[in-house]
Amino acid sequence: MKIDVVSIFPEYLAGLQLSLIGKAVDQGLLHMNVHDLRDFTFDRHNTVDDSPYGGGAGMVMKAEPWALALEHILGGESLGTTVDEQTVTGNSVDAESDAAVKPILIVPSPAGPVFNQRIAEELSGAEHLIFACGRYEGIDQRVIDWSADHFDLRPMSIGDYVLNGGEVASMVMIEAVSRLIPGVIGNPESLTEESHEDGLLEYPIYTKPSSWRDREVPEILLSGNHGAIARWRRDRRLERTAEVRPDLLAELPSLDKHDRAVVE
Ligand code: ADE
Repeated sequence: MKIDVVSIFPEYLAGLQLSLIGKAVDQGLLHMNVHDLRDFTFDRHNTVDDSPYGGGAGMVMKAEPWALALEHILGGESLGTTVDEQTVTGNSVDAESDAAVKPILIVPSPAGPVFNQRIAEELSGAEHLIFACGRYEGIDQRVIDWSADHFDLRPMSIGDYVLNGGEVASMVMIEAVSRLIPGVIGNPESLTEESHEDGLLEYPIYTKPSSWRDREVPEILLSGNHGAIARWRRDRRLERTAEVRPDLLAELPSLDKHDRAVVE
């Protein structure tokens, strides 16, 4: 997967060079480029913002530097690539072959739909993600509208609160998406029983010693009875979800009799 990030604070994204994401980049599983929006300005002060038409507090990011940055990112890419060229298998071509594959442009914004694990899974299958990190009051709407002709435009919020810019939100989404790319997490089983993977929160976990400050590890986990342990863990997931996030429970398709008894 290719990830491009545009920001006036490219240093913010340095944290992505660490840990598993950094390793995925070193291994070539992920190609990450961070671009400084000010490189696409031509005045002495590298101006990226101006006052809002119609008045109001704060500044607005100018359209042209964004258009130039996004065009630069597309530079190496043939905009005309279609699904047929990518999914021809033998002589048969995918039925939906006419649709052009546009890179996904994610614009972090508290005004977007809220990012979640399902969206992370969907995005983890993409070839090219671009994150446009706005600052100030936001980006001139005309370049957002313009970008929809060239990109699969996805405004995206990471929650119902306001950050100072899109950098931290982009890092959150990049981490959530890239850990789902095959090979990024060493043991893929780590991905199967974690919170939100199947709509339930994860079960409590313990490690040695079995007794710590008079607190014991639940006995069943020492029993070696894998069936009983699996049941115990599912029960704890159900209990925890019912207590902390009843909204998630309500979204689950249907619970069997045992599951229902646990959450009621
Ligand atoms: N920019 C400012 N606040 C944000 C949020 N909650 N999510 C995504 N981007 C943002």
